[in-house]
Amino acid sequence: MAATNALILERLEDVGVPLIPQVARHLIEAGGKRIRPLLALAAGAITGAPESGTRLLAAAVEFIHSATLLHDDVVDESRQRRGRPSAPAAFGNKAAVLVGDALFARAFEMMVATGSLPALGTLATASATIARGEVAQLAALGHLNTSWAAYVEIIDAKTAALFAAACKAPALLAKSPHADALAAYGRALGLAFQVADDVLDYEGGLGKEPGDDFREGKVTAPVLLALEGREDRGFWARALGNIGALPEALERLECVGALDAARARALAYAHEAQGALAPLPTSPLKDALLALAPYAAGRG
Ligand code: IPE
Ligand code: IPE
Ligand code: MG
Ligand code: MG
Repeated sequence: MAATNALILERLEDVGVPLIPQVARHLIEAGGKRIRPLLALAAGAITGAPESGTRLLAAAVEFIHSATLLHDDVVDESRQRRGRPSAPAAFGNKAAVLVGDALFARAFEMMVATGSLPALGTLATASATIARGEVAQLAALGHLNTSWAAYVEIIDAKTAALFAAACKAPALLAKSPHADALAAYGRALGLAFQVADDVLDYEGGLGKEPGDDFREGKVTAPVLLALEGREDRGFWARALGNIGALPEALERLECVGALDAARARALAYAHEAQGALAPLPTSPLKDALLALAPYAAGRG
């Protein structure tokens, strides 16, 4: 992981235009959990992929993630990220969009450098899927009649696809027979992770401003599960998107047990992730991936 972090920082520096590393460093040096590169490194080690290629894939995955965060904070008008002002808040929307593009392009250079067309292919497809998911979510804003299946389709695309590809790409590099099992693990882990994130968007404590989803009119797991129960649809039709109504919304979600219900769904995905690893032989790294699943479902 230390070597991957060094590679990430090295690849930020040699681009010539100082604004690119300045904006990217603002985000990347603020930390972040680095969960996606960690998954790539674990998958590479488990499947015996070459270390240098695995490291390139891990760094590329974090570059793709960073690019999506730069764009996402513009789209979501989020003012905080990783406990500090978001890149658009600090540098403006134009710089955030363009530096996001620069990071995306850099990621593809690193993927090509691995020489593995299958690894490149799975991450290229994931990139297209993320973009599709973000657009689908934009189109669904404020739609209280969104089904659970439609919500899952969105988070599958915007989040789980990259988790799956992070696990799968190094396995493809290694020509491992476990590529599909690792991808299934990553996908379910990503779903658990995003449902948990959607709970924490109401509860706070992520280094991001709580209530962003509510303010944006996003119909996420807690709201969907509240509406499945006895919760008053009229309130949500009036309140969603109106930040002044957030305290009452939170009270209602807690009152009908929607946050607990969403946490339970996240945990179910975590168990699905653990189950997907069944074909893999026992090893300390497999144990680490198994232990990561409940963490992803209940972060904070
Ligand atoms: C944030 O991802 C975007 C989501 C998919 C919820 P992370 O929670 O992994 O963000 P960092 O990288 O740790 O800041
Ligand atoms: C994160 O989605 C961006 C992507 C997964 C592409 P969200 O908008 O739900 O996550 P945060 O809350 O900003 O991190
Ligand atoms: Mg966002
Ligand atoms: Mg978003």
